Amino acid sequence: MANDKIQMTSEALEAIKKNFHISVNEMREIAKAFRLEMCMALAGKKSSLKMILTYAKKPAGTEKGNFIALDLGGTNFRILELELKGSGRTGRPVVMKFKLDKDFLTKNRELDKTRKLGFTFSFPVKQTGIASGYLVCWTKGFCASGVVGRDIVRLLEEALIKKNLRGVEVAALINDTVGTLAARSYKDRNCDIGAIIGTGTNACYAEPAMGGAIINTEWGNFDKVRRTAFDILIDSQSDRPGQQALEKMVSGMYLGEVALKVIRAYVLPGLKNFSTEQMSAVESDRSKGLAVTGMILKRAGAGNTTPNERFMCREISSAIALRAARLSAACLSAVVKKIDPSVFGTHTIAIDGSVYEKHPYFAKNISAALKDIFGAKASRIKVVLAKDGSGIGAAITAAAASQAGGFLLKILLVISIAADTLTQFLRGLV
Ligand code: BGC
Repeated sequence: MANDKIQMTSEALEAIKKNFHISVNEMREIAKAFRLEMCMALAGKKSSLKMILTYAKKPAGTEKGNFIALDLGGTNFRILELELKGSGRTGRPVVMKFKLDKDFLTKNRELDKTRKLGFTFSFPVKQTGIASGYLVCWTKGFCASGVVGRDIVRLLEEALIKKNLRGVEVAALINDTVGTLAARSYKDRNCDIGAIIGTGTNACYAEPAMGGAIINTEWGNFDKVRRTAFDILIDSQSDRPGQQALEKMVSGMYLGEVALKVIRAYVLPGLKNFSTEQMSAVESDRSKGLAVTGMILKRAGAGNTTPNERFMCREISSAIALRAARLSAACLSAVVKKIDPSVFGTHTIAIDGSVYEKHPYFAKNISAALKDIFGAKASRIKVVLAKDGSGIGAAITAAAASQAGGFLLKILLVISIAADTLTQFLRGLV
């Protein structure tokens, strides 16, 4: 009987693995579809990609001075101060991390000083200039009302003025992918792609056909990709069905959820929750009989588990995370080919985000998948972690923007009579 059960589950496991497996051919097909979607969007045609012109360019590496950055990520608001030394070198960033709460602006007198500021806002923003742009839609479960359609920089400036912080001039509004690209390319001229694989996912690149202008693809919404019944279920239960298809298969906000659904269906019906962090911990488990996994699963409501059940959970987690890495690699390969169709040159891809940084195999799996796709040419593509790149890059982009045009220095802070301030919209987030 016991053997029957093991036999059954291992067959089920094979079926699950097959369902989540992305072959080399499938990666190439996805890459082709992705490139087509890029071109459609650039031509103003219907596409699941937004291909937003960011008005930012790669920094020259010679920018100098002290700049500050505000980095609105998923859970934390980070403020950092950075000294740019020119010649691609920076001082060590002074990073302050704050939980998002309505008083964080008043608590932070750092913002009193007269400084140029880069603002990283990690959501789809239709930019109207380097320091202006309106929110197209929320992603990653954010839903504060009254912000979609409004100029994010204007909201920040209003909030700063309201708090009497008049010394700050917003010189650049950027997506976190743009920050990641800027942070690496300040010291690495080959860097032309920036990506985030964290709570959300996205990538941007320097488009040679547009003089190196950086395009934010908003790839989280890419939808020309095969979904399993579990993905379809997660989408239908999400706050925005039909949106962010790729993000729901790749990012930290959803990976644990996909694994939870599969584990519940096939192995442990009693499992109550399973986060992406727990997935990583299970995949890293080297303990005898997967005892650590047993503890994690017990705490997550599964009760006592057998070594075989734990093994199944680990295999399921690996299959889902591997799929995420291979999907990311397929999309990255499309971006590389958009820049350089024959991959003649060398390219650095800078990636930041908790999944890429912390998952035990994610980075390795991306590199292996790029090798599968490009063969020997993969050696021309370097993939690097750009830790804290989104914030550091905001300071760098603020510097590049300030030095690119003196007119930016004269940006007036507009005092609006509108009652909505950044503080209020932040209140909606907590
Ligand atoms: C947002 C992107 C962002 C990405 C990573 C996505 O949900 O739409 O703008 O770059 O998350 O933070």
